Amino acid sequence: MSNHPNLVLVGFMGTGKSSAGRILAERLGMTFLDMDDEIVRREGRSIPDIFRDSGEPAFRALERALVVELAGQTGYVVSTGGGIVLNPDNVRDFARTGRVFCLHATPEAILKRVEHDTNRPLLQGGDKLARISELLAKRQALYDAIPDRIDTDGHKPADTAAAILARLAGPGRQ
Ligand code: S3P
Repeated sequence: MSNHPNLVLVGFMGTGKSSAGRILAERLGMTFLDMDDEIVRREGRSIPDIFRDSGEPAFRALERALVVELAGQTGYVVSTGGGIVLNPDNVRDFARTGRVFCLHATPEAILKRVEHDTNRPLLQGGDKLARISELLAKRQALYDAIPDRIDTDGHKPADTAAAILARLAGPGRQ
């Protein structure tokens, strides 16, 4: 197991965290972990089922417990769920033991990536672009507070991974 500090990808749904994270992990010889997939695996039920049967607060508690666990380990490239920023403790804990990158995209670019998705309960029903814009506006300040920003508009996951690798090779943040 690599003892490289964790690399943690944060950002709204559809910003490409999982796709870029997989590439990054492979390039760096680290272990990729998608938090949503891990929660689904442990719970034995889908994200929509968790939201429907237990409610969003229960899902956030599962996320929080997994953050605490992962922040205590090394060698992971973590793709977080888009709502991880809602609890500032999550970003703080990840930043304490690893490096956190926030992936950004416009609502239009996000829509293209999630248009046919049925696995994201917060985007179901109604006008999807309006829903994305509204949710993103509510959370924008939380994403903006993360110093390492990566713009993904018009970029493929491999470009995003390359941008993160370049950032890692450059001078570290103070
Ligand atoms: C959510 C994002 C999803 C998932 C859940 C809630 C959010 O993850 O955790 O549907 O609140 O933004 P992705 O960002 O991987 O889609």
